[in-house]
Amino acid sequence: MSWISEKSILPSKLLSCLIAFSIFLLISSSLSLLEFNDSSLIPKSVLQFILVNNTSINPIPNVKEADTQKGPVNSPVFPYETPNPEKIIDEPEKHRKRQCDKSQALLRVYLYDLPPEFHFGLLGWKGSANQTWPNVSDQKTIPSYPGGLNLQHSTEYWLTLDLLASNTENVVRPCSAIRVMNSSEADVLFVPFFSSLSYNRHSKRHEKQKASGDRMLQEKLVEFLFGRTEWRRLGGKDHLIVAHHPNSMLTARKKLGSCMFVLSDFGRYSAKIANLKKDVIAPYKHMVRTIPVDNSPHSMNANIGVFQGAIYRKDGGVIRQELYYLLKDEKDVHFTFGSVQSNGVKEAGKGMASSKFCLNIAGDTPSSNRLFDAIASHCVPVIISDEIELPFEDVLDYSEFSVFVRSEDAVKKGYLLNLLRGIKREKWTKMWEKLKNISGHFEYQYPSQPNDAVDMIWQTISRKKTSTLLNVHRKNRYSRSQFQ
Ligand SMILES: *[C@@H]1O[C@H](CO)[C@@H](O)[C@H](O)[C@H]1NC(C)=O
Ligand SMILES: *[C@@H]1O[C@H](CO)[C@@H](O)[C@H](O)[C@H]1NC(C)=O
Ligand SMILES: *[C@@H]1O[C@H](CO)[C@@H](O)[C@H](O)[C@H]1NC(C)=O
Ligand SMILES: *[C@@H]1O[C@H](CO)[C@@H](O)[C@H](O)[C@H]1NC(C)=O
Ligand SMILES: *[C@@H]1O[C@H](CO)[C@@H](O)[C@H](O)[C@H]1NC(C)=O
Ligand SMILES: *[C@@H]1O[C@H](CO)[C@@H](O)[C@H](O)[C@H]1NC(C)=O
Repeated sequence: MSWISEKSILPSKLLSCLIAFSIFLLISSSLSLLEFNDSSLIPKSVLQFILVNNTSINPIPNVKEADTQKGPVNSPVFPYETPNPEKIIDEPEKHRKRQCDKSQALLRVYLYDLPPEFHFGLLGWKGSANQTWPNVSDQKTIPSYPGGLNLQHSTEYWLTLDLLASNTENVVRPCSAIRVMNSSEADVLFVPFFSSLSYNRHSKRHEKQKASGDRMLQEKLVEFLFGRTEWRRLGGKDHLIVAHHPNSMLTARKKLGSCMFVLSDFGRYSAKIANLKKDVIAPYKHMVRTIPVDNSPHSMNANIGVFQGAIYRKDGGVIRQELYYLLKDEKDVHFTFGSVQSNGVKEAGKGMASSKFCLNIAGDTPSSNRLFDAIASHCVPVIISDEIELPFEDVLDYSEFSVFVRSEDAVKKGYLLNLLRGIKREKWTKMWEKLKNISGHFEYQYPSQPNDAVDMIWQTISRKKTSTLLNVHRKNRYSRSQFQ
């Protein structure tokens, strides 16, 4: 009996051995896929490149709203670790207080009461007679910023809203910056000109006009500021002007160049007018939807790199073309064409969210919103842009969550893909984890949340303020005007 039962057991043992072995094979082959080492194992289309014909920099006012948020909405807030607790303010109980204490704020900001034509009027907002600012206590009544590509340069809008909110009782926001009504109490004086929107909407000169609407506003602004004692006091050094679109403030930037600019990069500025010493780099508002931190598809997914952006570009965009020709024939590289106007943003978002690496190649300016789309998608950015300046880099070490490649290396045959394939899974996972932890720093929202983009910009300005003051004080050493 026992002999017979032994015999019947044996084949089933063999069978389960076989099953276990094949499961092992399956797992190990998919693991080696993830390892990204052996290109022969990578199936076709594994590197997916999404190309969008047209881009950010071109003024495309009023593009059809593709996939972007309309106006101020509460984006979800994500838990993330503050990368450097000493430098990034993190006192939740202070942040949550309804009323901010003026003496405790990092930054006291005076907001010029410029007429609405400089700010919310550009959004079509009309207040009642003599009303300069919209009532920001109710989110539904706040004028919304146009969607589409305009939105990526909307820094001006979020900062202004946040200042207005600092005097509005029922809005809970961080207390980094607070609006003061007396300019002599202020650390910085904020010039609420929506310069990027003005550029996007009114840079074309109409037949009957002497100059474009954008240009006329800038000239008016220069005249206004030069007439103010506040400006003359320090020659504008304590003034803050947001000019995020690379072509905004084109007429006035030289005359007002002593101020502190909030910019996307220095690509179209001379070093004298804009530089890291006095100016602040702010992120673009990303176009793709934010991926919730605990719902990132990457963990199961894979070896995909995505590049989203125009290939046929002017000026600095040459490298995109070179890379395109270099990569298009790679047998595991697949290109997808899309357009921002149609479903491009949505598609790009999907592609990025399921990709390991996202390429950010210099276009006609060193920066682009692609980087911030990648961060929001938790796709490890591969930055190929030698002149790029990065937001908050004094507190964030981008090398912990990005791969930097010099342009001269990127265009070497085989270099880029070999580099990316050589990145081990553990290393990638580490960068991805970090990416999730810092992605909240790049979210613009109203009301602002602790350490989000708006709050981080205020914190950065408050750190710059010190060096601005240092410069002013040094200049005062031998100035005798104090005795007069
Ligand atoms: C892209 O921009 C070029 C001009 O720069 C224009 O001729 C072309 O029609 C645009 N394409 C799309 C898809 O918008
Ligand atoms: C608006 O301001 C002007 C000048 O200060 C004043 O004459 C006018 O009465 C004001 N109108 C309203 C509705 O407050
Ligand atoms: C703003 O709106 C809220 C309600 O939406 C109202 O209670 C408040 O008085 C308004 N503030 C001003 C200055 O009109
Ligand atoms: C503004 O503050 C300065 C200095 O604290 C003070 O001398 C001045 O009277 C204030 N102005 C107003 C209008 O309150
Ligand atoms: C993008 O440009 C290519 C070549 O110029 C063209 O064939 C394609 O139709 C364009 N795609 C879109 C979405 O405009
Ligand atoms: C990210 O933050 C989580 C908790 O918020 C923490 O457990 C994790 O170690 C952090 N990862 C990195 C790479 O800092």
